[in-house]
Formats: sequence, structure tokens, C-alpha cells
Amino acid sequence: MSPHYLSRDIQVELAQIAQSIATPGKGILAADEHAAIIESRFSPMDIQNNEENRRYYRQMLFRTKECSQYLSGIILCHETFYHKTDDDDIPFPRLLNEMGIMPGITVDRGLIILGGTDNETTTQGLGGLEERCREYKKNGAQFAKWRALIKISPTCPSQLAINENASKLARYASICQQCALVPIVEPEVSLEGDHDLEQCQRVTEQVLATVYKALSDHHVYLEGTLLKPNIVTPGINCAKKYTIEQIAEATVIAFRRTVPTAVPGIMFLSGGHNEENSTAYLNAINRVQLYKPWVLSFSYGRALQTSVLRAWKGNKNNSEQARKEFMRLTRQNGLASLGQYEISA
Ligand code: 13P
Repeated sequence: MSPHYLSRDIQVELAQIAQSIATPGKGILAADEHAAIIESRFSPMDIQNNEENRRYYRQMLFRTKECSQYLSGIILCHETFYHKTDDDDIPFPRLLNEMGIMPGITVDRGLIILGGTDNETTTQGLGGLEERCREYKKNGAQFAKWRALIKISPTCPSQLAINENASKLARYASICQQCALVPIVEPEVSLEGDHDLEQCQRVTEQVLATVYKALSDHHVYLEGTLLKPNIVTPGINCAKKYTIEQIAEATVIAFRRTVPTAVPGIMFLSGGHNEENSTAYLNAINRVQLYKPWVLSFSYGRALQTSVLRAWKGNKNNSEQARKEFMRLTRQNGLASLGQYEISA
């Protein structure tokens, strides 16, 4: 019996997708908030969280002219993946493919508590994953996302949480690749807490080293993957202040120590940092004077949408203003992914 290694054709396809998402100057919009999460984005702006508002909002974003100049991929949730445009009935994945933007799909099913730990979590969703991946691929998806969350506290992360999450990410990545979907591997080290920059760097390195060992153990083809990590920063309640340059350097050093050069792109999450900081950090990361063998770009959710939602307010008459905000943010982050963002830009 031959082992189920990936065929040469699938390897070529995966590497092409991953490389095209990691195009210099472009990044990913994470528009995969499911109904419960979008509630936390809509309600502060007094936007009603119903299915048509969710569909209309995504259509407004996706149909922003020229956003493909700065976006190579958009991640959708299950509901949005099957939504269509209202005027010509085009399924969103097809719309994006036609615009030259790769459609992706979140395939995990959220976090659950890891028993016997200090409220650490693991991610569920491996059951039936292969069937779901094949269906998404058939309907136009090119890549997938699975998010694991690691928290920092005096007792966390435990070795159990790190190992468990690394192993789930690796199993997920292996299944995706068998179905010709590029897995985005997202081990997010949480911003919550009062830890300092050095501790975030240590934990991020430990997590990434464990994740890449697990990916290797699971025979994951690294050229056909993307990493979606946190930026290395102090915790949100840390008393000590650091410069943007210190944050950028700690981030690049952590990745140089742990992420193989075969990985084409590192696409950061914004993780609760505001729009200004998310752009400034990405820009500074790309300006660090150290050898960086990967494309370093964005896969932002909140940092690409907060001002857009504030402008839109759930009112169709504000769509043009909302799109202007969306273009401003995508452009700024596109420039930052090249280290070319200037505050006045
Ligand atoms: P944020 O950029 O808002 O953290 O979202 C990115 C994401 O997809 C988290 O899984």
C-alpha cells in the first residue's frame, strides 16, 4: 500500500495558491465573522444583526472597486460562502475569483475549554472536515483557516495546551491539503494580560516551534501553507511601554527562530490592536533590517473594518463613504506590507 503523500499535481496547485496569496503588497481580509461574532461588531454601531444586513455588508466590501489591488484573499464564514449578489445572483466565491481575489473559508468550529487547565482552550471541528473541505473546494474555495488560541497568564500556557493546539492545527492542515485547499495555520497568542514583550516573544517562539514540529510530523507540505500569527507585543494591560521598532524587531526575531523558509507568507492577525497600530506595526516589521525570507503581510479582520462599520452604520446611503474607508485601510496596509507606509499616505 502506498502512503497518502500528496501527488505532485496537488503540491504544484497548493504552492501556486499560497504564493499568489502571498503576493508582495497584498494581504487578506478576514471577513469570516459568523453571526454571533458579527453581533459584537454591529451592535456598537447600532447595526441590526440580521442575515440580509450581513449579506449586504459583505457584498458592499467585496464589490469595492479596485480593492483587489491590495487584497489577494478574503476569508468567508459558512453563511457568507453560500450568499449571492442581489442583482445578478453570483455566489460570493465566484465573484471573488472573477475579481482576482482568492476566496477562503473558515473551517474550525470554535473554541472549547481544555479540561484540567486554567480555562485554556482547544479548537473543535475535525469531525467531517474532509467532506466539508471537498465541498468548499468544489464551490470555489482555494484556502482555509483554523484558529487556535493560546493565552498567557502566570499559569499559562500549559504544555498540554501548546501540544494539543499544535496537533489539531497539523491534522487540519493535512486534511486541507489532501483536498487541495491551502491551510492557513493560525496559532494566536492572545493579547489579553499584563505580560511584557519579552514574555510574548518567548511564548510565541515556543508555540511556533511546537506547531512546525507537528506540521512536520503530519507530513504537511509547507510550501502550500500560510501562517497567520499574532504580532509579538506586550499584553494589553502591561504597564511597560515599548516603541513600535522594539515590537517589530521582537516579532521578526521570533519568526526567524521558528518559521521555516519554505513557508511563503506570514499574514498577521490584528487581534484587538487598533487600525493605526496594526498598520504601524506591519510597516515597521517590514522595515526591520534583518533577513526575512517570507512575505510579511496582513490578514486583518477588525483592523480593516472598524472605520468601515462606523461609516456605514447599516444605512445603504452611506455605502460609498464606507467603501472609501475600506479602500483607505486596504491601501495603507498594502503599503505597510512593503514597508512603504508613511503616516500622511
Ligand atoms: P482580527 O484581525 O480582528 O484579529 O481577525 C483576524 C482573524 O481572522 C482572527 O481569527
